[in-house]
Amino acid sequence: MEHLFTPYKIKGLELKNRVVMPPMCQYSVEAKDGIANDWHFVHYVSRAVGGTGFIIIEMTDVEPDGRITDFDLGLWSDGQIPALKRIIDAVHQHGAKVAIQIAHAGRKAEDAEQPVAPSAIAFDEKSKTPRALSTEEVKEMVEKFRSAVRRAVEAGVDAIELHGAHGYLIHQFQSPLTNKRTDEYGQELTKFGKEVIAAAKSEMPEDMPLIMRISAREYVEGGYGIEESIAFSKEYKAAGVDMFHISAGGEGPIAAAGRPGTHAAYQVPLARAIKEAVDVPVIAVGRLDEPVLANAVIGNEEADLVAVGRGMLRNPNWTLEAGVQLGKEAGIPKQYQMGFPRK
Ligand SMILES: Cc1cc2nc3c(=O)[nH]c(=O)nc-3n(C[C@H](O)[C@H](O)[C@H](O)COP(=O)(O)O)c2cc1C
Repeated sequence: MEHLFTPYKIKGLELKNRVVMPPMCQYSVEAKDGIANDWHFVHYVSRAVGGTGFIIIEMTDVEPDGRITDFDLGLWSDGQIPALKRIIDAVHQHGAKVAIQIAHAGRKAEDAEQPVAPSAIAFDEKSKTPRALSTEEVKEMVEKFRSAVRRAVEAGVDAIELHGAHGYLIHQFQSPLTNKRTDEYGQELTKFGKEVIAAAKSEMPEDMPLIMRISAREYVEGGYGIEESIAFSKEYKAAGVDMFHISAGGEGPIAAAGRPGTHAAYQVPLARAIKEAVDVPVIAVGRLDEPVLANAVIGNEEADLVAVGRGMLRNPNWTLEAGVQLGKEAGIPKQYQMGFPRK
């Protein structure tokens, strides 16, 4: 019977347990140069010491105007590689594996003078109206994703996650609400995503898994639902995605059409639906910070991995405590053993 501390392998990625730290923007690049600093080092390495099997570094953007804010991480230049490499090497020393979330905020780039997007439609009345990318610029954007993935691989990651969720650029292309283009990237809503997937794969070693985070349903009026997301996930899988990370929403202001649930495990039904219908491994996320519940998601085969976000902001040693609670060996560092008496 599998549980939260059963090791997991997908292609060349071998994890000691099923606990994932999901990407969480820190908005902490005070120098505004996209380069990771000591905050990021401590933040990620402490979760590795805390027993997390798999750490996905926050949204890291492929160009300066792809950042939500100027305080976000970037991988648009080779000069951004060494600081990430230092973090990744240290995380490895503590037994965790690392991915990085490669992204572009599109119309949700708040500090860009004029954000870019598939179509010139603002996120809400308070945000800037983006400029629609030309067909040529869309092709250049694919190349920016390619270069960022190349740099991430150079920095030593074990996997890549593409950010196709939460209303950022890939999601903007995929949603009929934000993509009103008449060119090839509008006629086929998944074309941009598929080209980014192919570009990413071309820079990744054969046995390195490609993860894609998606919003499996939208929460705005007329937004897509699980049937549509099953259909586009099948296309993305055929294009090369090895695993999906199942989130939801983010494409517009939360309004009458429904709020995301805020109860425990609110996105697990979506993860399970994608896993079953697409026949693909998935990461479940969203209020899974009760160890018994996270363990059940694995045991009941609803997902292959479980991500704990806010729970890990509260407690970097979430995984070690979960091990104690579940009576499983979580690899408590010898320096910390007196803090975790056996029950
Ligand atoms: C501070 C913060 C920053 C976040 N940044 C990102 C991000 O960079 N990329 C992303 O896909 N999701 C981001 N998220 C969403 C989380 O990855 C996660 O899906 C969400 O918090 C739900 O999981 P939880 O209930 O375990 O926190 C962020 C969440 C928080 C709290």
